[in-house]
Parts: sequence; C-alpha cells; structure tokens
Amino acid sequence: MTIVMGIETSCDETGVGFVEDGKLLGDALASSMDEHARFGGVVPEIAARAHLHAMVPTVHLALERAGITLDDVGAVAVTAGPGLATALHVGVAAAKAYSLALGVPLYGVHHLAGHAAADTLEHGPLPEHSIGLIVSGGHTSLLSVRDLVRTPIVHLSDTFDDAAGEAFDKVARLIGLPYPGGPSIDKAAKLGDPEAIAFPRPLTGRDDPPLGFSFSGLKTAVARYVEKHPDADVNDVAASFQEAVADVLTAKALRACRQEHVETLVIVGGVAANSRIRALAQERCAAAGIELRIPPMRLCTDNGAMIAAIGDLLVQEATPPSDRGFSAVPTVELKQAQLW
Ligand code: KG4
Ligand code: ZN
Repeated sequence: MTIVMGIETSCDETGVGFVEDGKLLGDALASSMDEHARFGGVVPEIAARAHLHAMVPTVHLALERAGITLDDVGAVAVTAGPGLATALHVGVAAAKAYSLALGVPLYGVHHLAGHAAADTLEHGPLPEHSIGLIVSGGHTSLLSVRDLVRTPIVHLSDTFDDAAGEAFDKVARLIGLPYPGGPSIDKAAKLGDPEAIAFPRPLTGRDDPPLGFSFSGLKTAVARYVEKHPDADVNDVAASFQEAVADVLTAKALRACRQEHVETLVIVGGVAANSRIRALAQERCAAAGIELRIPPMRLCTDNGAMIAAIGDLLVQEATPPSDRGFSAVPTVELKQAQLW
C-alpha cells in the first residue's frame, strides 16, 4: 500500500494531507484568509508568501496527525492548476522538492478533480456513473463523471459568467458582509426570510439552456435592490439571494441526473459547504429518488486531503507519474484528473 502526500496551494489555503488506499490518515490546513480580508479578496502575492511560510510547518503538522514520518510517503500529488499562478508555483515547487528528496513519484493534478475525490474519503468509491456539480469560487459546472481517473470527464455545462462562489463573495461585499462572502451570507441568512425578496432564478425560462448557469444578473439584481431599498434587512437580502442560488443549482443538477439517466449526484467545492444548498439538495434528491453525496463541510473548501485523495486514485490505477519538469497551469478545464 502506498501513502500519498497531497499538497494544495491554488488560492489562500495551504493544505497538506495523507491518504492511503482511500483512507484519510491525517491532514493540516493553514489559511491566509485574514490577511486578505481588508482587501475584499485574495491578493496573489500575499497568498504566495503565506504559502511559503506555511508549507513546511503544515507538512509537519499533517505528518504528526497522520502518525507517520516522511519516510513512509510513497508518492506526492500536487495541485498543478487551475488557480492563482503565484500561489500554485509554491505548492508545485514544494511537491517537486519532496518527491525528489524522497525518491518517490510525483503527480501534477487538477484542483477540481481533487474536489470531487474528496467525497470518496467519506463515502467510498464513486459509482460507475454520477453527475458532479462543482461549485467553487472560480467554477460552476455540471459534469458527467465516471471513475475520475481513467475516463475523461464530460462537461454538461459551465457558468456563462460568474461562478456561484464568486456571486456569494460579490453579493456579501455589496451588502456589507465580510470576506469570504459564502460563510458570511450563510450565517446571515439563518436570521433572514428567504421569501422576503423574489430575486430572479437565472436561465430558468422555457427558451433558456436547461443546464446553463449565470450568476452575474442575479448579483446585479441584488445591487439594484439594495440601491433602491437602503434600509433593507441585510439578513433578508442574504437569505433571499442564497435561496435563489440554491434553487437554481439544485434544480439544474437534478435535471442533469434525469437527462443523463444517472442516479447519483455528487456536489463538491467550497459552495457545497452552504447549509441551504445542502438541505435543499437533500430534500429534492430524496423526492426524486436520487442518491446525494456531499463531502463533510471541512472537505468541501480547499484542503490537502482532497489532492492526496485524487493522487491515491491515480496510484491505485498504476498511472504513470508526471515528469518533474512540469509547471503550474493557472487556467485549465477539467477533463482529466492528471494534468501532466
Ligand atoms: O473550493 P473553494 O474553497 O476554493 C476555490 O477553489 O475557489 O471555494 C471557495 C468559495 C468562496 O467563493 C466561498 O465564498 C465559498 O466557496 N463558500 C461558500 C461557503 N463556504 C465557502 N459559499 C456559500 N456558503 C458557504 N457556507
Ligand atoms: Zn477549490
């Protein structure tokens, strides 16, 4: 059995995790989130410097939690993209160094494949065919997923503009809630009325692409509303906006399951941590007889365990490792788990 070390540095979280044969042995996470809050978003140079400072201590903490030493590591997997170039480079350089020093294979992997693999740590191997809804700060896609590592992943749809997480972050800013916007809106929404304001459900008209997503118009609708109603209750705005996003995401994900005749829906990525999206997905999947899989909340947002998980799947398939000469790729569509 091989212990795979996973390293994640695509945004503001330095994540390290160890996975062996589908089991998470231990992981650790350092975040530079607080250093970005006053800028209202992630500053790439600050994130990169924070990764550099956090990398070695995070590796050591994860080793300690896993109860292993570096000598036990049999392979290294790292997020090669997509993400912030400056941030990715730090993780890729560290992964190359560990792989070279330990004399073990290196895998450069796709960040979003890691998000999907995170669910296998909790719920075991994926079924033969599932629909994946990836909802993060940079991506919103419906995917036809098979085994994640051998069969290419097919995109059924991608957002036409903003990603769902981006919409949460921008709307939070509009209504004066702190960065990151997703958790802030989730919290405020618990105190508000989701039916207070009837925000639009984008691309749900009869002539609209049935699986298409668009969130920039919804964001504008919130902006117009708060402009016109400066005294509006922030909790009501948050709850009504969140309801619109949850409604559209879950309705389209279920439609994709029906269209593809698939009985399992897997929701992953940072926005899958949202309590209303989780609850509504649960409700609608139960009513439709669809099995719902969502990783536990701490494995939804960026972490190292998910990268170790996809690395572990590649190792189990005896996939040839990446050549250590590869570099980070800031933008790349998810088609294959392994990027290089
Ligand atoms: O997957 P992730 O950690 O990083 C990316 O790969 O982008 O996702 C981060 C996104 C952010 O936009 C954040 O606001 C959102 O996930 N997010 C949430 C929640 N927790 C994180 N959105 C809605 N509700 C949440 N509870
Ligand atoms: Zn992510």
